[in-house]
Amino acid sequence: MRTIIEPFRIKSVEPIHSTTPEQRKELLIQAHYNPFLLKAKDVIIDLLTDSGTGAMSSEQWAGIMRGDESYAGSESFYRFESAVKNITGMPFIIPVHQGRAAEHILFTFKGGEGKYILSNTLFDTTRANIEFSGAQGLDLLCPEGKLPAVSAPFKGNIDTQKLRQVIEEKGKENISVVIVTVTNNSGGGQPVSMENIKMVRDICSHYEIPFFIDACRFAENAYFIKKREVGYQDKTIIDIAREMFSYADGCTMSAKKDAFANIGGFLALNDAKLAEQCRNQLVITEGFPTYGGLAGRDLEAIAIGLGEIVQEDYLHYRIRSIEYIAEKLDAENVPYLKPSGGHALYLDAKAFLPHIPVHEYPGQALAAALYLEGGIRGVEIGSVMFGKYDQQGKLVPATLELLRLAIPRRTYTQSHMDYLLEVIINVYRNRKQIKGFEITYEAEYLRHFTAHFKPAAQK
Ligand code: F0G
Repeated sequence: MRTIIEPFRIKSVEPIHSTTPEQRKELLIQAHYNPFLLKAKDVIIDLLTDSGTGAMSSEQWAGIMRGDESYAGSESFYRFESAVKNITGMPFIIPVHQGRAAEHILFTFKGGEGKYILSNTLFDTTRANIEFSGAQGLDLLCPEGKLPAVSAPFKGNIDTQKLRQVIEEKGKENISVVIVTVTNNSGGGQPVSMENIKMVRDICSHYEIPFFIDACRFAENAYFIKKREVGYQDKTIIDIAREMFSYADGCTMSAKKDAFANIGGFLALNDAKLAEQCRNQLVITEGFPTYGGLAGRDLEAIAIGLGEIVQEDYLHYRIRSIEYIAEKLDAENVPYLKPSGGHALYLDAKAFLPHIPVHEYPGQALAAALYLEGGIRGVEIGSVMFGKYDQQGKLVPATLELLRLAIPRRTYTQSHMDYLLEVIINVYRNRKQIKGFEITYEAEYLRHFTAHFKPAAQK
């Protein structure tokens, strides 16, 4: 087997600024130990997110120049609409400025007091939009998805038995949507099988509940189906993606992920009446239905990106580059969520730092340690992001305590990944010296973005 090379050449570069460990110590204090509050220029390798941080292709940049900025009926909109229809097969395509805007519009109509939205795992913005509407979101992840050390092919699957049970318990009239997130970002970037998607379709049809896909990383999910699910080896990625969408009634999408765009998203629907309601809402909050909060050039970049993302050589390199990190971590027994996911590597902070209790946020402690050691920025996906308080004000922790290292698309090279590995391995060797954190400030919703921390008091 030959080395799997990056299937692109570099035409334009951006400098990386270095910092010393002493500078980083000071910068981290100024950022209240929250990597979201660091300035990007003070980060050496930025793995905070794969969202909107990828490199656009020369074709996309050419499309940017072609963007038609007409307020109504822009040519770029029609190219965008046709690219989205080509993949989803859905007739009503509503552009939005990013994924959460699609969620907000959808849950304006599908949320509300007394309603439940069931999912494999809701992403944080999806959950926030659901709760903001007064509805409740319930995660029904399959049992293997909750075991970080256990490897299984489709750890993003929803537990279909639980799904039936919860629908029966809550009453089908109270379940407004079932939404399956592909790949399951908050659960480790793990894929959902076609079999699981089909079963959800059957259950939703039986109970007459709409079935939606959170499609942010649909192409990565399709690639895993091709590689891991019987009967899909000879199918193209686009055919697999089309089959996935054929089972759904609608989808929300952040084009900042699997469309290689820096901004954008859409809501795609089969239901004409819901589409009309959503479009009316769109005009109030985003913009006219043929631009929806985006510039014409952004619509162009998305249309072209959707064509590039389903190319198999790209996906092969993409998934392999993350497996490469995983293999090197295996050699050092560094605990991470197995198998490695589609867009990120998730260090298992609970196993990495067993001496830090969950109420001292091991994922946050690991985030700070990687930044101090090598200027790497990751994001905690654990009790800072998903923790709640009970009536006594005691932390109800998240199921998993993870540090996500999300890999921007087509942005970093193998030597950046080798540097990342050196940093992680060094932190792992010195892990006993790492200390936990306390929260000193937090917002009501999505607290992880702006929370302030201080080192936990020593007992
Ligand atoms: N759904 C999933 C599964 C996501 O991963 C995201 C964003 C969204 C919805 C919301 O999309 O950011 O365009 O509004 N995830 C980013 C991340 C922020 O870092 O994982 P958005």
